[in-house]
Parts: sequence; structure tokens; C-alpha cells
Amino acid sequence: MILVTGGAGFIGANFVLDWLQGSDEAVLNVDKLTYAGNLGTLKSLRGDARHVFARADICDRAAMDTLLAEHKPRAILHFAAESHVDRSIHGPADFVQTNVVGTFTLLEAGRAYWSALSPSEKSAFRFLAVSTDEVFGSLGATDPQFSESTPYAPNSPYSASKAASDHLVRAYHHTYGLPTLTTNCSNNYGPYHFPEKLIPLVITRALAGEPLPVYGDGKNIRDWLYVGDHCSAIRRVLEKGVSGETYNIGGWNEKTNIDVVNTLCDLLDELEPKSSGSYRDQIEFVKDRPGHDQRYAIDARKLERELGWKPAETFETGLRKTVQWYLTHRSWWQDVASGAYRRLESLNNE
Ligand code: NAD
Ligand code: TYD
Repeated sequence: MILVTGGAGFIGANFVLDWLQGSDEAVLNVDKLTYAGNLGTLKSLRGDARHVFARADICDRAAMDTLLAEHKPRAILHFAAESHVDRSIHGPADFVQTNVVGTFTLLEAGRAYWSALSPSEKSAFRFLAVSTDEVFGSLGATDPQFSESTPYAPNSPYSASKAASDHLVRAYHHTYGLPTLTTNCSNNYGPYHFPEKLIPLVITRALAGEPLPVYGDGKNIRDWLYVGDHCSAIRRVLEKGVSGETYNIGGWNEKTNIDVVNTLCDLLDELEPKSSGSYRDQIEFVKDRPGHDQRYAIDARKLERELGWKPAETFETGLRKTVQWYLTHRSWWQDVASGAYRRLESLNNE
């Protein structure tokens, strides 16, 4: 089996669902269920023996040791993190705890477990760390995209904590020979995205008739990656990636925030028209985020050249699918909005 951390969050849960659609290899899903963890996302797996859910904190060394000893995974895929930049500005401590101390604890537990494996199991084992392009800092309008050799220059407490996590993973490969893989991806979007992040926030607030807040002048650029494409890239890196290497994952979709918000409004005008006017009428420019990075952009050519991976979705197809998903899965995000999702503590007590 494989061990996934953070598999009740946005990307981790998409990964677990996709994995079990394409494989009978079981998943041990280790998640603390912070505000971002939602077992409602995984309810289609209730009763499925291929999915084992363990509520645990990656900072808890004894719990990690026990889970590894009991389940003997062939790989650890590490998604768990505090992930929202705005929250990191208001409360950075949790980011240092989970993203730095948590990764360190998981690396230590993983190293002890890996050291005791047989030689063939040892060489097949992988520790794959899921990271972000935000570790590379901010680009100017004409700068080349981030490549795997771009120097780290994190600007927010979130990106600084993820950079520290990446450095620890690198050091565990270099110092102890732990077979690691690191992926750095751009902004994801798609189903089950927690509605405090830009794309789901705009869709759900638009439908509720609320203002759509765009920070600053709306000209900041993000490079959008459909979550299903991210999951397929991670599977490819796990299968074919070279131990110790890092891979950038991107969707080749650089867009300004205001373009993203306008496109979402236009899709909603088409798919769920208002009785009068356009959803664009709800857009409001608000005070900018402190230290707001201007532009992120990923050069994903290494992954294409060396492992033959390319995204399947364009921004247009991925965004349309995403809007359609939010329109047809209202109870998922309404349970998040009401807080009902926090009452789910195991897949059996729903
Ligand atoms: P998310 O915030 O939606 O989910 C994080 C999950 O981790 C939640 O289920 C949460 O309960 C769990 N978790 C948090 N702290 C934990 C702890 N101490 N122990 C165990 N579980 C814990 O995040 P996401 O958007 O799914 O991101 C997943 C990974 O991808 C993160 O490492 C993030 O840095 C990275 N990433 C995300 C994006 C993006 O656009 N969302 C982009 C690049 C990289
Ligand atoms: P976000 O989804 O928080 O991801 P990140 O900060 O990790 O890139 O934000 C994406 C972009 O959208 C970012 O430039 C900030 C901007 N933004 C808004 O303009 N309004 C909002 O309400 C939010 C949440 C984000």
C-alpha cells in the first residue's frame, strides 16, 4: 500500500479518489482533520477496504511510527500542510509546526522505517513531498518562468515554511540516502477546493449574491493547474521519477486574477444566469494582501522531457468542468459553509 498524508484536503483527497479509480493498491490516509480536512469528500470510499483512514497529526512521531509499522507502505506521499497564504499572514505558528516540524517528524519516522527494510524494499521505497512554486518567490512581467534550478526566495510565512520543508527533504536524501522525490506545482483548481481560495470563493459567493473581492488591482498573475492533471503528474513522478530529483508541475495557464474572476462570472452567466445583470456586477476591488507576490509561472518542460507528462486540460476546459462541479455539488460546499463538515470524524459515523 501507499501512505498519503493530508488525504482529506483538496489535492490529497482528489489524489486518493483518482488513485483508487485506477488501482487496487490500498491507501493509508493519514490526516489530522484541521479546518481544511473534509471526510465528506471521501464518502464514496465508505466501506471500501482499499482505503484506511487514520486521524493523526504528522507531528506525532509515535503515531507515525505505529502506522508505518502496522501498514508497511512502499511509499509515503506527503500532501499534509497548512496551505493558505492569507491564514499564514494572520497566524504563522501553525505553518511552522505542520510544514516544518511535521515534515521533519515524518522524515525521521520514514527514515527509521526505511532503514529497517530489506535491500530490495529499500531501493523501491519513495518519499514524495508535494510542494509549491511559491518557494521560488515572485516574478517580474518579463522574467523567465520558474525552473527546477531557480533559487529559493520565499516571501510569505506559508512559502517560507514550505521552502524549509523542501530543504529538509533534500537534506535527507543527501545525508541519509532516503529515496526522495519533490514536486513543486502552481496554483491548483478543481472539485473539492476549500471555498476560501480564489476560484471556489468566487463561484460560491457569486451564487450567494455576495461581493467578489479582488485584491489590489487584480493584475497579479497565477499559473493555473487542474487538480486532476496534478494528480496524474504525481503518479508519473512516483512511478518514474529519479530518486533525489525535483520536478516542477504546471498547466501553462498564466492568468491575471481579474481575468480569472471575469471568466468565472461569464461561465456562471451562461450556466446559471441571474434574473437581471451579470455576475461581473458583484466584483469589488479590495485592499491588497501584504507582500502579495506579483507573478508565478512554472516551466514544466523537465517533467515532459524526462517523464513524458503533459497536462490534459486547458484552462478553458478545466474551469468549465470546475464551475459545473460546484453547480452540481452544492451540498458539499454548503456543508463547508455551515460548518457541518467538521462533525465528520470518521468515514463510519456519517
Ligand atoms: P489543504 O489545505 O486543502 O489540505 C491540507 C490537508 O492536510 C487537510 O486535510 C488537513 O487536515 C491536513 N493536515 C494539516 N495539518 C496536518 C497535520 N499536522 N497532520 C496531518 N494532517 C494535516 O491543502 P491542499 O491545497 O490540498 O494542498 C496539498 C499540498 O499541496 C500542500 O502541501 C500544499 O502546500 C501543496 N500545494 C497546494 C497548492 C494549491 O493550489 N492548493 C499549490 C501548490 C502546492
Ligand atoms: P489563493 O487562492 O489564496 O492562492 P495563492 O495566494 O496561494 O496564490 O489566491 C490566488 C490569487 O487570488 C492571489 O493572487 C490572491 C488573489 N485573491 C483575491 O484577489 N481575492 C481573494 O478573495 C482571494 C482568496 C485571493
